[in-house]
Amino acid sequence: MYSFLYRHVLCHVDAEKAHRFGVVAFARLPFVFRVGRSLGIIPNPGPAAAREVMGLRFPGAVGLAAGMDKNAEAVLGLAAGGFAFVEIGTVTARPQPGNPKPRSWRELDVHGLRNQMGFNNEGADAVARRLARLRASARGRAVLVGVNIGKTKVTAPEDAATDYAYSARTLAAYADYLVVNVSSPNTPGLRDLQSVDALRPILEHVRAAANEAVPERHVPLLVKIAPDLADEDVDAVTDLALELHLDGIVATNTTISHDRGPGGLSGPPVRERAQAVVGRIAARASGRLAIVGVGGISSEDDAKAFLDAGADLLQLYTAFVYEGPRWVAKLNQTLGKLSGKSGTR
Ligand code: FNR
Repeated sequence: MYSFLYRHVLCHVDAEKAHRFGVVAFARLPFVFRVGRSLGIIPNPGPAAAREVMGLRFPGAVGLAAGMDKNAEAVLGLAAGGFAFVEIGTVTARPQPGNPKPRSWRELDVHGLRNQMGFNNEGADAVARRLARLRASARGRAVLVGVNIGKTKVTAPEDAATDYAYSARTLAAYADYLVVNVSSPNTPGLRDLQSVDALRPILEHVRAAANEAVPERHVPLLVKIAPDLADEDVDAVTDLALELHLDGIVATNTTISHDRGPGGLSGPPVRERAQAVVGRIAARASGRLAIVGVGGISSEDDAKAFLDAGADLLQLYTAFVYEGPRWVAKLNQTLGKLSGKSGTR
């Protein structure tokens, strides 16, 4: 049904409007997805799909990547719709409108998407208020929510650490884990923050801010990197993550290695490099970091290949847009049946 809706309706609507329609549907109609679950129309992953990673129990391996639910509006619907966990954001310290429209395009020939959204979001304070409401209910507390934070566009690079720390301090209490995003291509200079010298103070400040805001709980901290990093830079970030006792790495964001126009490309064209980056981190970290594999996962075989490369968890965005919620739920269920494995971290 979803693929019919996508091919005949959503695909003909401006990509950003279709995205907004989707978020509003998940935000307003979570009960529809819950009913779908209880009737078995949306498959339940079952206990075998669960895995323990970073001290958290994930009900399945596959979660929603950052960027779709930037303001945490639709967490309950997305979780009921099939995702084992939902990463909200990117959230910046201050609200910002993002880049001028149009800023999101479908790349139908490769089942991809291209975007230069530029972190349009309501800002840390507003998102914190929404997450507080979510966490006030038992159902809202039960969903595993990652919070992805980024730099406010107008903040100078030398003030980046303070800017990230503000978001961490404001949002940590509601986050099952935090992700420092230094890899989106659509904020000028952001990816330069992946260099070890720039990244170190950001991660240190964020860690300290999260500890200060939530002294009673260790909030796992990860960093999200770009597929366009050279191998030696992937190694350098991995070494820094190990040195600073980070909990993990999210690999990867969208790529700018394409000639389709402005913005970052997602979906199948990213897959090979994203999987290679996952493999590289896994080999270097040998179990000391959790790895969230993301980038072009669009089939069961892709998902298995990322897990075999060393990913502990998976995320997707683009394949969800093309295939819909039922497919994601089925993927979680199938991976659970196949592995029967419950992870080690
Ligand atoms: C993204 N992605 C993203 N990532 C992030 O860390 N913060 C963000 O705000 C966004 N925004 C965003 C918007 C749109 C329209 C897309 C398509 C993607 C990147 C996303 O989380 C993921 O890393 C990549 O898209 C690769 O995964 P898929 O889409 O190939 O499964």
